[in-house]
Amino acid sequence: MRDSLVIEGGHRVEGTVKVSGAKNASLVIIAASILAHGRTELENVPRIKDVEVLLDILANQGCLTEWTDEGTLAIEVPDSITPESPYELSKKLRASNLLLGSLLGRKREARISMPGGCDIGSRPMDLHLKGLQALGATVSLEHGYIEATAGRLQGGRVYLDFPSVGATENIMMLASVTPGTTIIDNAAKEPEIVDLANFLSAMGARIRGAGTDLIKIEGASKLKAVRYAVIPDRIEAGTYMAAATVTGGDIMIENVIPTHLLPIKAKLEETGARITQINGGIRVQGTGRIRAVDIKTLPYPGFPTDMQSQMLAILTIAEGTSVIVENVFDNRFQVVDELKRMGAKIKVEGHTAVVEGVKHLHGARVKATDLRAGAALILAALAARGQTVIENAYYIFRGYEDIERKLTGIGVKLIN
Ligand code: EPZ
Repeated sequence: MRDSLVIEGGHRVEGTVKVSGAKNASLVIIAASILAHGRTELENVPRIKDVEVLLDILANQGCLTEWTDEGTLAIEVPDSITPESPYELSKKLRASNLLLGSLLGRKREARISMPGGCDIGSRPMDLHLKGLQALGATVSLEHGYIEATAGRLQGGRVYLDFPSVGATENIMMLASVTPGTTIIDNAAKEPEIVDLANFLSAMGARIRGAGTDLIKIEGASKLKAVRYAVIPDRIEAGTYMAAATVTGGDIMIENVIPTHLLPIKAKLEETGARITQINGGIRVQGTGRIRAVDIKTLPYPGFPTDMQSQMLAILTIAEGTSVIVENVFDNRFQVVDELKRMGAKIKVEGHTAVVEGVKHLHGARVKATDLRAGAALILAALAARGQTVIENAYYIFRGYEDIERKLTGIGVKLIN
């Protein structure tokens, strides 16, 4: 994989693009497969960097992981799986914190490295630990590790101060094999939570309320391995929807679940894009003009924080001024400095970015600072006059499967 993407701007995107399986569903379902006895087979898992790192971690702990010929991911977890995740690997992947709940559930102990602060803000684990402790686990933080043991587990009730996706997922995984009833109040409602619940239920767990803010789980004694297909990636779909909007293009996006795209569709239509549902896919037509809109990111079904950088990028050339408020993470405007190098006019005050639309952006050498910032820079580069070099492109390959082929497939001019 290259370490930079070079894009020649000024071309409309046209054609068809197929969305891959959801990164954020795949990662947690791979983690949950640790609870399964037997051979788990997962369909529609994207072959992206984050998935590869998580599979390396599982292999390092003694699991067998393999991609079959038809692209299915097979995972076999032995009873002898070690409960410790290797520091070197798990510090590369925030989502390795999702091994906490499943390792505790399988081995009654877990030792994972504290996920480092990442590029979008501090990533505390307090709600994860509060949840696991509510089920009887003992947790300690020392030497940069989280150590958890679960002598006697018993269903419990936990209120999440913030509807944390990861905390909800860790509690669901542990509760699925914890005797008694567990209730999660103020649970996260993202589609990836529902996908995890469907996967755990297929394995034999008894879960009700996934997708609402109250989830009830009856612990099962043993969960069996199943074959399961992961949902499509709503953020990848949204990113291509933004590409059609910002270039005045016309693309067909296949393999989507329209309800998952509702907040993204609503805001892009407010900018003037025309979006129509056509048998199982959506068509997005940009009109060449972008109206300024205001965005507030919120937990699902609010506007997704993972689309915030992408909206910021396309609104740099809107007619008017847009106000973007980031309510989920405390430091998710790092892409602003890079967009300003391309001529954007953006002022950041705390959790708010004020974007004054300009006539056009110009190509420049820029750096991706995280996955979605990288995606935002691609969108800016598509609209800019001239060439843009996006460095640290590995961030993009963490979450967008086959992105170079997909971009060229819709007419993007990649130079390299
Ligand atoms: C998941 O991260 C996603 N990652 C993120 O996607 C996504 O942005 C985020 O959910 C919100 O939707 C995966 O699913 C692998 P959170 P997660 O716990 O679970 C605070 C991407 O680009 N918080 O819902 O880590 C936290 O600081 C990635 O695909 C606590 O205070 O997100 C943050 O401000 C980026 N204490 C907020 O909650 C805790 O114990 C949301 O975090 C946990 C979280």
